[in-house]
Amino acid sequence: MDLIYPQRKANMSHLQDFVDEYLKGKKDLIGIEIGSYAGESTSMLVKSGAFKTLYCIDPWQMGYDPKDCCAGNSIVFAEIFFDFKHFMNPIIKKVKAHSEEVVNRFKDNSIDFIYIDGDHRYEAAKRDLNNYVPKVKPGGIISGHDYVDPNDPTIDAKCFKRVFGVKKAVDEYFKTPPIKTYKDFSWVQIKK
Ligand SMILES: C[S@@+](CC[C@H](N)C(=O)[O-])C[C@H]1O[C@@H](n2cnc3c(N)ncnc32)[C@H](O)[C@@H]1O
Repeated sequence: MDLIYPQRKANMSHLQDFVDEYLKGKKDLIGIEIGSYAGESTSMLVKSGAFKTLYCIDPWQMGYDPKDCCAGNSIVFAEIFFDFKHFMNPIIKKVKAHSEEVVNRFKDNSIDFIYIDGDHRYEAAKRDLNNYVPKVKPGGIISGHDYVDPNDPTIDAKCFKRVFGVKKAVDEYFKTPPIKTYKDFSWVQIKK
């Protein structure tokens, strides 16, 4: 069974570009991934060798956003895939919860890296930024997926409409554009 939706699959190599540029050579990082689904991006992050601990926060629950293709029945299998791939890995700490429920488990300025790819609706994306950016240490990496510009003429609006809230939330939060974006629509900022 193929659980990865086509646009993401085609773009996985560009997530690898981000990993190579920002994680290669780093060691003992404490990271958080919000939205792990079947564990594909998790695998890439972990293979970098940069992490001592990577918290993977995801409720693996259907129906969080009717427009999101990851929110259907496939989420049940996605969790099984995630567990199968990662349950033996002591670096990965699976946190089966909504990101907003577990934010208080993390201390401010204690996290080296965050990748946000959970609920893509504007309010949810803004909430993840408000909740989790304070958890990242100064100099730490704040990143995520789906920084898609609705005005980009090359974007298939039908495909990407579901994630249009992310760019608005990221731009509003940081007030400056990401320091780098990638072809898979990953984005990066460094915590000041
Ligand atoms: C697009 S998928 C993540 C894909 C994964 N990062 C990858 O690239 O392979 C979005 C995931 O976010 C999760 N999600 C939805 N709402 C969430 C929330 N409030 N907190 C954490 N995760 C959430 C969904 O269950 C789903 O697995």
